[in-house]
Amino acid sequence: KKERTLALIKPDMMTKIGDVFELIYSSNLIVTKAKMTKLTWSQAADFYAEHQSKPFYNNLVQYLSSGPVVAMELMGDEAMSIWRKLLGPPDSTVAQREAPQSVRGQFGKDGIKNVGHGSDSLAAAAKELEFFFPSTIGHGPANTA
Ligand code: CMP
Repeated sequence: KKERTLALIKPDMMTKIGDVFELIYSSNLIVTKAKMTKLTWSQAADFYAEHQSKPFYNNLVQYLSSGPVVAMELMGDEAMSIWRKLLGPPDSTVAQREAPQSVRGQFGKDGIKNVGHGSDSLAAAAKELEFFFPSTIGHGPANTA
């Protein structure tokens, strides 16, 4: 089933973004949109709004807004789960043990500095793609620069 998903490269991965591109290139996914941007605290807070009650929320928002990120729309069969598999488990220390070849296994530091994000449902993908690639003029970070 052909899907679209959001792939987000977090600040610590920006200098090694070529390694991510190689992984995507060797998958069956194609990059249909891409954008480099830097989120403000408040934009990062919006992006992670569903986590606002979590104890790690402030650290998450701080990290995501700490430097430039690259947002991509990936398209292909099972794009959402394939990208999450390429990323590996969310906690990088788990990824290092259980999926050492994954992006997080190779490049992640811990649960927060986990170098990438992937939408976890098709509903989330639609929402997160709209966040970075808004289709309505006047909304989202694309139009605030
Ligand atoms: P991400 O895929 O961007 O989406 C939500 C983020 O919450 C996740 O990556 C992790 O960085 C973070 N996260 C989830 N659980 C924990 C945790 N127990 N401790 C720290 N960060 C977490």
